[in-house]
Amino acid sequence: MHYIASSKRYAAMPYNRCGRSGLLLPALSLGLWHNFGEVDVFENCRDILRAAFDAGITHFDLANNYGTPPGSAEETFGRILKKDFSAYRDEMVISTKAGYLMWPGPYGEWGSKKYLLASLDQSLRRMKLDYVDIFYSHRLDPQTPLEETLDALAQAVRQGKALYAGISNYPAEETQKASKCLAKMGIHCLIHQASYSMFNRWVEDRLLGILESEGMGCIAFSPLAQGLLTDRYLKGIPHDSRAAKPHGFLKIDDVSEQKLIRIRALKALADRRGQSIARMALAWVLRDRRITSVLVGVSRVEQLEDNLSMLANPDFSKEELLEIEDILAD
Ligand SMILES: NC(=O)c1ccc[n+]([C@@H]2O[C@H](COP(=O)([O-])OP(=O)(O)OC[C@H]3O[C@@H](n4cnc5c(N)ncnc54)[C@H](OP(=O)(O)O)[C@@H]3O)[C@@H](O)[C@H]2O)c1
Repeated sequence: MHYIASSKRYAAMPYNRCGRSGLLLPALSLGLWHNFGEVDVFENCRDILRAAFDAGITHFDLANNYGTPPGSAEETFGRILKKDFSAYRDEMVISTKAGYLMWPGPYGEWGSKKYLLASLDQSLRRMKLDYVDIFYSHRLDPQTPLEETLDALAQAVRQGKALYAGISNYPAEETQKASKCLAKMGIHCLIHQASYSMFNRWVEDRLLGILESEGMGCIAFSPLAQGLLTDRYLKGIPHDSRAAKPHGFLKIDDVSEQKLIRIRALKALADRRGQSIARMALAWVLRDRRITSVLVGVSRVEQLEDNLSMLANPDFSKEELLEIEDILAD
């Protein structure tokens, strides 16, 4: 059926400024790492994207290697864009990345200019786009001069193939260097895409402070620890869960008893707040105003709806925050 976006799509979603830039990102963004590949059900992908856009999610995050097989999430997204969203391109912020293995030989991964720019062209072809909004270096390449990787991002921006440059998974110190180096090239480093959840708090040490001083935004990925911070695994490993899928990045061993003890304690608090664990975990990531957006993945529309309803109860009392610290402490 022909898709017409909901006229109420901007009614509820807050939009946060991405560092010192003109770009606003939705509090909740959608990532297409899992569940959008060739192995997944196309109509389900389409339903999720429609529901997301209807709820004010304007930012969709991809990478060259997303989907099973790699590249297929961009292809799925490209097909759905063409079918449903061609009238809405200017209302969407679409990102992609390069850094991980995509093709054989010495030019198919890491951070050379040769790889990054070839990969971006491939991503644009797969998504059938003229440009992406954000192009990321997906990981720091310790063997390539930082300047070369960043020069590739700068060139993508100058060529109009990307509007903004971003970095992902860079340690704090290299983030600062990257921001200063791009500034010398006349390009603002817009954003860092970093893992952040109740179970993974490395960004709190130094990264968030550096991002603030550099005027960069932060988009937090895997805020639900790939589904652990939900009710998904409370009664075992569901057959359709990420941990059960052969191509899922979450492994059965990651669902450890030690984690489950904490998840159960978090559930007790979430129950008292009248929220699911997932909603509480997302609100917790967003409690820090330096987080521009929380980047979730979902395998079905119901999960998306659950996550969106986090917006109804985003605040924590001091006591609740302390209780969470206690639960998470070793
Ligand atoms: N830059 C990087 O290196 C990097 C790395 C990883 C991810 N990312 C980005 O971050 C995005 C999100 O990562 P992620 O998928 O790992 O995030 P996540 O939000 O931590 O986990 C998503 C999974 O949690 C489960 N889930 C979500 N909402 C739920 C709910 N309300 N109730 C129960 N279960 C729920 C689903 O698991 P089931 O599938 O089992 O249903 C879903 O697939 C990716 O798509 C990608 O865009 C970036």
